[in-house]
Amino acid sequence: MPKFQRHLFTCIHSRAEDDSRGCCAAKGGALVAEAFKQKLYERGLKRVMRANKSGCLDQCARGVTVVVYPEATWYGAVTVDDVEEIIDRHLIGGEVVERLVIPDDKLTGKAPNRPEADRQECSE
Ligand code: FES
Repeated sequence: MPKFQRHLFTCIHSRAEDDSRGCCAAKGGALVAEAFKQKLYERGLKRVMRANKSGCLDQCARGVTVVVYPEATWYGAVTVDDVEEIIDRHLIGGEVVERLVIPDDKLTGKAPNRPEADRQECSE
C-alpha cells in the first residue's frame, strides 16, 4: 500500500530572465507550491497527501507545472487561485480538472509513440 494516497509536485525551477525557455519560478511556482502545502495542512490531509516542490519538470512553456501521482496527471499554467479547485476536485474528489490539463500530445519529453519532430526537449 502506498504511503500517500496522492503525491503532487510543483515546479519552482528558476532561470535567468534572458533565458528563452522561461521558468516556473517567474510565474509564481513557489507561491503555488506553498499554497498546496498550506491548504493540505489546513485540511488535515498532510499525512495522506503530500505536496512537494520540484525542479524542472520539462514543461517550462506551460508552467507553472504541477504533476499529480499516482495518476500522472499534468497540469499547466497553474496559479494560486487554482490550488483549492485541484485539491477539492482532484486530490479529494478524484476528478481531473480538465481545463488545466496539459494534453498528452503537448507534453514535452520522449513519448515512445510520437514522431521525433514533435518532441520538444526542455532540459535544465
Ligand atoms: S521550469 Fe518548470 S517545468 Fe521547466
